[in-house]
Amino acid sequence: MKLFIDTANLEDIRKAYRIGVLSGVTTNPSLVAKEGVKFEDRIAEILQAVPEVESVSAEVTPDAVTAEEMIAQANELIKINNNDKNITIKLPMTLAGLEACRYLSRKGVKTNVTLIFTVNQALLAARAGATYVSPFLGRLDDISEDGVQLVTRVAELFRVHNLDTQIIAASVRHPDHVTRVALAGAHIATVPFSVIEQLVKHPLTDQGLEKFAADWKKAIQ
Ligand code: E4P
Repeated sequence: MKLFIDTANLEDIRKAYRIGVLSGVTTNPSLVAKEGVKFEDRIAEILQAVPEVESVSAEVTPDAVTAEEMIAQANELIKINNNDKNITIKLPMTLAGLEACRYLSRKGVKTNVTLIFTVNQALLAARAGATYVSPFLGRLDDISEDGVQLVTRVAELFRVHNLDTQIIAASVRHPDHVTRVALAGAHIATVPFSVIEQLVKHPLTDQGLEKFAADWKKAIQ
């Protein structure tokens, strides 16, 4: 399973890129708004900061309601970094979003259908040609449903029907989500930098380092 980072924060993106674990970046309107920067400018900065990834998701804004409006926005987003092949247009799971997905994927533009909460939504997005679908685990868990089970079932569906759309497990809240979606067959998990930090850590690693440091002081130098 590959890892994407789920943020519009440039510092966090650079830190994750430096350690070599990053295959992509996802953003959404809430994440961009948190940064207090102009959307297009930040997408350009991200594309330039991570040249060796497969995908940077830029979501059409909530003002785009019809497929035509989404496609018009997508056409602008694509140009941001000289038709950067990594730009991926993130579209909402709506009838208009699916129509835009079909149009853009036929034009060879990468697409990510977001806000997926059921297997049927994932099936529709895949049939509309989505490069990626994003089931949201944490938000399902928040309403006492099982987010990981959704990923398991979507992975099974795609396998049984030979669909090549990739699953991005999104709304990931903690390391156990990462382990479980990897075992469930997600192709990618998109995670905040705080989760990447948690993935690195283990109390026995910290204790081990402390012991090595203490013992090293006693060694003959
Ligand atoms: C994914 O693409 C979304 O940006 C994200 O994972 C949403 O996560 P949240 O539920 O923590 O907002």
